[in-house]
Amino acid sequence: MKNYKQFLFLLVAVVSVGFVSIVFVLRWVLYFKEGLAWDGGPAEFNWHPVLIVTGFVFIQGIAILVYRLPWTWKCSKLMMKLIHAGLNILAFVFAAISVVAVFDFHNAADIPNMYSLHSWVGLAAVILYGLQIALGLCVYLVPITPGSLRAAFMPVHVYSGLLIFTSVIATALMGITEKLIFGLKNPKYKDSPPEATFVNVLGVLIMLFGALVVRIATCPSWKRPSEQLVSSQHNNKGDANRTMGGMALSTCSPTDCYDPEANCDTRKRNSKPDDPGQRSTV
Ligand code: HEM
Ligand code: HEM
Repeated sequence: MKNYKQFLFLLVAVVSVGFVSIVFVLRWVLYFKEGLAWDGGPAEFNWHPVLIVTGFVFIQGIAILVYRLPWTWKCSKLMMKLIHAGLNILAFVFAAISVVAVFDFHNAADIPNMYSLHSWVGLAAVILYGLQIALGLCVYLVPITPGSLRAAFMPVHVYSGLLIFTSVIATALMGITEKLIFGLKNPKYKDSPPEATFVNVLGVLIMLFGALVVRIATCPSWKRPSEQLVSSQHNNKGDANRTMGGMALSTCSPTDCYDPEANCDTRKRNSKPDDPGQRSTV
């Protein structure tokens, strides 16, 4: 893998920032706010940010990155699809419960529903996410779907996946700001009480997490190699130049090349870097 050290650094950073964000959101609701309960009160509302940050932000981010982990490249593609789909479905369940919690809280307190930009963009993201899962399952897990359709749909799948993920990050930042403005009365948000500063830092961490996920997921050198290349590399396990501890799957061979940035003449002659057929997807 090209720039392996940079990849490892970004991966450690993304997981650490994600964990710290979860710790921050838990400390926010347990220490600064009313804690967690399912009773129609403010403690029920608090499930909303907790489940969003844990599920819709962190688990979704990891789901997007699983194909990029070089240690998984020896696993079958079907196994990786099941992990990717499973984590995305788990993230969807967290998001759905978090939205139920806020609706329940609004209804119990007689607060109108769906009046804010935050709620519009947020609900749209949840619905589109459900649609992305349904289409992903039909196109990539139903065995009768033709390979040509899978390849043609891949750029749309990746684009819409990243668009939904970045919208979720934006929605979370809007939600955090709204909650601080509504919740801080004495002292007010503008007076920068400790809670405001703490939760502003949470917002910065969420943004950083999103930026790192998008960076790793869009770097062409870190794509999972094609199945064909994986099996050819497995057959050449003895070749020390190609397999450095199982990590060199992306090195150019004379006949195939996974890494579009690598100096591989065959690849340059035969395909465009973003040729959907070159993706490992299908
Ligand atoms: C309300 C979705 C993140 C704070 C809502 C509502 C939805 C929603 C659909 C409307 C509920 C109703 O009308 O009864 C989302 C989604 C998020 C997200 C999809 C994922 C990114 C957050 C975060 C916070 C937050 C991290 C931080 C506390 C709020 C607040 C409301 C609310 C204060 C009530 C005011 C309003 O309706 O705008 N959210 N939310 N949200 N959310 Fe979020
Ligand atoms: C790849 C997002 C659901 C199958 C990707 C990528 C993203 C993404 C951003 C690009 C990853 C990369 O280039 O390394 C999402 C989101 C989903 C979702 C946000 C849920 C809302 C699904 C489902 C399936 C699926 C249910 C069904 C199996 C795939 C496949 C790839 C992929 C096969 C290609 C990986 C590769 O290049 O090797 N997805 N996805 N996705 N996704 Fe999804």
